[in-house]
Amino acid sequence: MYSLEAPVKAAPQRGRIPDPCAMVTLGASGDLTHRKLIPALYKLFKSQLLPEGFSLIGISRTPETDESFRSKMKEAVGAYFEPPDPEVWSRFEKTLFYLPGNVDSPDVYRELIELFSKLDKERGCCGNRLFYLAVSPQLYPTIIEHLGKSGLSCPLSEKNWSRIIIEKPFGHDLNSAHALNDKIVQYFKEDQVYRIDHFLGKETVQNILAFRFANSIFEPIWNRQYIDHVQVTVAESLGIENRGGYYDSAGALRDMVQNHLLQLVCTIGMEPPVAFTATSVRDEKTKVLQALRPIKPEEVNRVTVRGQYGDGVIDGKQVQAYRKEKNVKPDSRTETYVLLKLFIDNWRWADVPFYLRTGKHLPKRATEITIQFKRTPHLVFARVPEKHIDPNLLILHIQPDEGITLRFEAKVPGPDIHLQPVNMKFQYGSSFTKPVEEAYERLLLDTLIGDATLFARGDWIEAAWGFITPILEAWENDRTPIPVYASGTWGPSEADVLLAEDKRKWRNP
Ligand SMILES: NC(=O)c1ccc[n+]([C@@H]2O[C@H](COP(=O)([O-])OP(=O)(O)OC[C@H]3O[C@@H](n4cnc5c(N)ncnc54)[C@H](OP(=O)(O)O)[C@@H]3O)[C@@H](O)[C@H]2O)c1
Repeated sequence: MYSLEAPVKAAPQRGRIPDPCAMVTLGASGDLTHRKLIPALYKLFKSQLLPEGFSLIGISRTPETDESFRSKMKEAVGAYFEPPDPEVWSRFEKTLFYLPGNVDSPDVYRELIELFSKLDKERGCCGNRLFYLAVSPQLYPTIIEHLGKSGLSCPLSEKNWSRIIIEKPFGHDLNSAHALNDKIVQYFKEDQVYRIDHFLGKETVQNILAFRFANSIFEPIWNRQYIDHVQVTVAESLGIENRGGYYDSAGALRDMVQNHLLQLVCTIGMEPPVAFTATSVRDEKTKVLQALRPIKPEEVNRVTVRGQYGDGVIDGKQVQAYRKEKNVKPDSRTETYVLLKLFIDNWRWADVPFYLRTGKHLPKRATEITIQFKRTPHLVFARVPEKHIDPNLLILHIQPDEGITLRFEAKVPGPDIHLQPVNMKFQYGSSFTKPVEEAYERLLLDTLIGDATLFARGDWIEAAWGFITPILEAWENDRTPIPVYASGTWGPSEADVLLAEDKRKWRNP
């Protein structure tokens, strides 16, 4: 008897309290720590989901003491979640510590080792460590190298763990993602690494797996025999806010499609995993990427549309063009909108197009996946023309109104046969009294427990960049003007034309 793979481990039980540990956020004075990490940790603490002895050490160059750091974090919880409960806060703030320092320098890692051993003794962190890289991606290799050389990447003993969370963007193209993965595996094993994609922490994204694999009625029709095509829309009404410097060198394809939209494609497209474990789920997702039909340079203009927002009106307010935003080049060719048509070349999905689009300054914020089914094979209602029968749609609403809609034809009451589409709707808000968990809460807890199911694996990331990079390269070489769409509209008209040529049209949320 032999096996090709390690045996599939049972998924850690939800509701389990993680082991005692010390977490380090590198980039403690930054936006991510304030807006997402600290509010998420406070909520976990308030819900009694953090272990006894949990401690958080913030590191950045800004001089702070434990006291001043605690008071800034209190403000952050108030600003980005809710005014902290005085009694809960007085207990929570005792878990927060600050270490001023430059992550470029070995000194800070030496001081960190001393602080760890003090916290192990005084607070019972038991030698378990979690490092969260909340700094700009240029610093990732330096930090990984220092963690490795100082010995912090290795668990203290066989009973301990040392984990690292890496934020997006993970690389800029295939080569840089590969180089970063190489750097990581020099010092960490894959099961220590948590590449975060907050889309995967969203309840509704996880619910796609429950919908598909905990019900028997949908899976038999989840294939090319019944599905005409799939649309994935991630629309944002916001512009680039204060992120001009980063965004202008990234663009929508890198910022959204390579990670979030391809994760959604994989969740819809994957085969049933043998179990809900990190290995099985991530194996199946990676297979979807391996089956993507590569896009040749000469095909890029046929299967993609780029756009950049111009002046316009959103929610009654005048907004300005992308090229007028702070830290954006006045002649920038960066796309703020992208449409991509792709195919998954396997038995389940052969010749079923997936249309992906994402953009900024669109009319509303909405993330939805629409699965359009094929038309009925034969029309029994002789007096109803085919064009009056709409195809069935299954719409998975990811945000902001989380839920699922099934659209089908119904007979309008009356003596004649008249048909009209109607909706059957499930809404999270009305079906469950429990509020929908924030993605960062869920993902932080999973990391502390050691469950990597909802994190991107190194090979997935490289396969995603392998698919995207030829498109980026073709765009680099194409000097035709980039279409401009008015802010507050659904993107450039070329996006509608591309679907119209396939005799299809966008379903706008
Ligand atoms: N903000 C978000 O919502 C968000 C969402 C998704 C992903 N991300 C990713 O998360 C990372 C952080 O984003 P952010 O928005 O929080 O950035 P940010 O506001 O610019 O914060 C960067 C942090 O890094 C620290 N830092 C910079 N150089 C340092 C050095 N040499 N040594 C020690 N600390 C240093 C800064 O503090 P000092 O200046 O005090 O040293 C600051 O705390 C980025 O990779 C970003 O792409 C952010």
